[in-house]
Amino acid sequence: MTPDSPAGPGQKNYIPALSFPWLTRFYDALISLGMPERRMRGRLADTLAPALGAAILEFGCGTASNLVVLKKRQPDLLLTGVDVDIEILEIARAKLQHAGVKASLVHYDGGRLPLDDASQDGVCTLLVFHHLTVEQKKLALAEIRRVLKPGGRFVLADWGRQRNPLLRAGFFLVQLLDGFATTRSNAQGLVPGLIADAGFKGLHEAAHMVTPLGRITYWSARK
Ligand SMILES: C[S@@+](CC[C@H](N)C(=O)[O-])C[C@H]1O[C@@H](n2cnc3c(N)ncnc32)[C@H](O)[C@@H]1O
Repeated sequence: MTPDSPAGPGQKNYIPALSFPWLTRFYDALISLGMPERRMRGRLADTLAPALGAAILEFGCGTASNLVVLKKRQPDLLLTGVDVDIEILEIARAKLQHAGVKASLVHYDGGRLPLDDASQDGVCTLLVFHHLTVEQKKLALAEIRRVLKPGGRFVLADWGRQRNPLLRAGFFLVQLLDGFATTRSNAQGLVPGLIADAGFKGLHEAAHMVTPLGRITYWSARK
């Protein structure tokens, strides 16, 4: 597998968290070194702003760091994390256990989400969509919309179009690692149009964060 050969729905190959499977075990350490992690995850939770007792899905939960942040802030939340990578879900499981955090982790095949229609009050996703081709992005958005309750909030945080050459250079480093097949549409600024085309309403840029690897945008919308 190369970073330029991402999975189609139902296939077993995909782009792992740091592109190469052997790097997955270093994901948490590298993110905490290379990104403003506490602020980045806190902003996701702030933007999602779940109601008391809400059912929340994290799409592409990785090592479950966002699930831990969400649950520590609001212990009443009913959390589910899905990811296509079995290995990263094992790391996530150990992290949740260590943190004493209860959340359901579900392996996902990249096609239909293993959740009922209109079962979630909110869905969030951080740094996942640049791992998906345009077709995969469309499929993921349709599935996320399907599992959201009417009026439920969706927050997608990822790299979008960069605002200046320095930020663009930062995101170019991400592209070198993760490949161009999935990251190009992010760089071209296509993500908000795809969210709107999937039928989400009230789409807006709720927040952003400048990182050493470029500018991350937090888009918020409702079903
Ligand atoms: C950069 S990591 C981000 C993980 C986590 N969201 C975080 O904030 O740390 C990208 C994650 O997307 C997952 N991923 C890749 N392709 C996916 C797909 N088609 N559906 C769901 N998750 C996917 C990877 O397994 C990985 O865990």
